[in-house]
Amino acid sequence: MSEVDVVILAAGKGSRMKDDLSKPLHKVAGLPMLEWICRAVRKFNPKNIIAVQGADEDFSSYVDETVVQKEQLGSADALRCAFPKIDAEKLIVINADMPLMTENALVDLVEKGEGFDAALLTADLKKPFGYGRVIPVGERNVVEQIVEERDATADQEKLHLVNAGVYLFRADYIKRAINNVTTDNSQSEYYLTDALPGAKIVQVADWQDILGVNTQQQLAAVSKIARKRINDQIMANGVTMIDPLTTYIDANVLVGTGTIIKPGTVIEHDSVIGAENEIGPYAHLREKTVTGIDVHIGNFVETKNAKIGDHTHIGHLTYVGDAEVGQAVNIGAGTIFVNYDGKNKHMTKVGDRAFIGSNSKLVAPVEIASEAITAAGSTITDNVDRHAMGIARQRQTNKSDFWQRMPHEDFATEYDAKHDQRDDQP
Ligand code: UD1
Ligand code: CA
Repeated sequence: MSEVDVVILAAGKGSRMKDDLSKPLHKVAGLPMLEWICRAVRKFNPKNIIAVQGADEDFSSYVDETVVQKEQLGSADALRCAFPKIDAEKLIVINADMPLMTENALVDLVEKGEGFDAALLTADLKKPFGYGRVIPVGERNVVEQIVEERDATADQEKLHLVNAGVYLFRADYIKRAINNVTTDNSQSEYYLTDALPGAKIVQVADWQDILGVNTQQQLAAVSKIARKRINDQIMANGVTMIDPLTTYIDANVLVGTGTIIKPGTVIEHDSVIGAENEIGPYAHLREKTVTGIDVHIGNFVETKNAKIGDHTHIGHLTYVGDAEVGQAVNIGAGTIFVNYDGKNKHMTKVGDRAFIGSNSKLVAPVEIASEAITAAGSTITDNVDRHAMGIARQRQTNKSDFWQRMPHEDFATEYDAKHDQRDDQP
């Protein structure tokens, strides 16, 4: 393929989202939509990825170059803003709000659009609402016109062939054609779709690839599909999921073969889960959780920025944040790694085969050596040496004959009384 530049149109206001976050930065399975697009197009090895952004945005960390569209005059105007940065012969233009786009669909567009001045991806949608409708020239796979839903007649609205918002252009063609685009439409905007008559229609293989996000509801719908794709990929690598529908795994997560993930589990970005682990139910593995082989993380355990060694068990009701935990460690129920002092986060280290008693608080920075113990219920603020036990709680005292000093309700007698009454009923 000859050289190609990519322009991501990302300057729209996103007003239909009804919140203050810039639309391309809304996250889908842990990654901003813009990042999803960049991942799909980067596989092409494009010459340059250029984002068109609004005056208040800065997307420079995602792309090679950015240009500002000062006023949101429409998608054609947005593309025009990028022209000074374009020097490849071909151009892929893509809306920033379609995070499910895949490399396969883009390859298809480029291959099937070969020899045309312009080509676009389309899909046949059961519910085409909100998309521009594509009207072909007779039976041919060439565009006669694209009508936005707002501008469509009742008959045109019934069409199910929609414009995905991904285009392939010969650069010299679009630089000329864009000059013929006017603002003669209901929004008085320059529509890029008005430069597409004559373009080759390329039907996408998987209609989900083209779904766009204009509203919060669409963001949720697209996220669900993204998560299903992630889960399918992970299961294909030999991971067991008891209930994929309630297993929420971000992009950028690896899970090793033979691991079992139970319902209600969330695994966030940049986590690496080893082989043969047992995770959940209801475990929350936040960013940068890294586990070894045969690790057990049970119900209501939260981890974050934590390295956890082979064979370690963290069974119940525990928070492990900013920690290095060795191999074959047992962490008792209700343990808290106290990592935050109100301003800074501190590290906790726990050595191999250490035994952390239930309901321990490990106040970081602190180190529990290998084969050291903490007594249940201890608040550990000092390091514990190898083979030692750290105990930090008051010694128990028992006060005799205390029962008689307490008021009591006799539940059993009350219960019996109620049942007796019922027995009297006819
Ligand atoms: C657009 C298409 C529609 C297609 C749909 C696919 C146009 C006119 N319509 O509609 O045919 O079916 O996408 O999802 O293109 N943008 C700018 N500057 C602007 C206006 C928009 O950069 O002045 C960017 C937006 O950030 C967005 C993209 O262009 O990424 C499309 O704009 P949007 O308002 O989302 O268009 P749709 O109504 O979804
Ligand atoms: Ca859109």
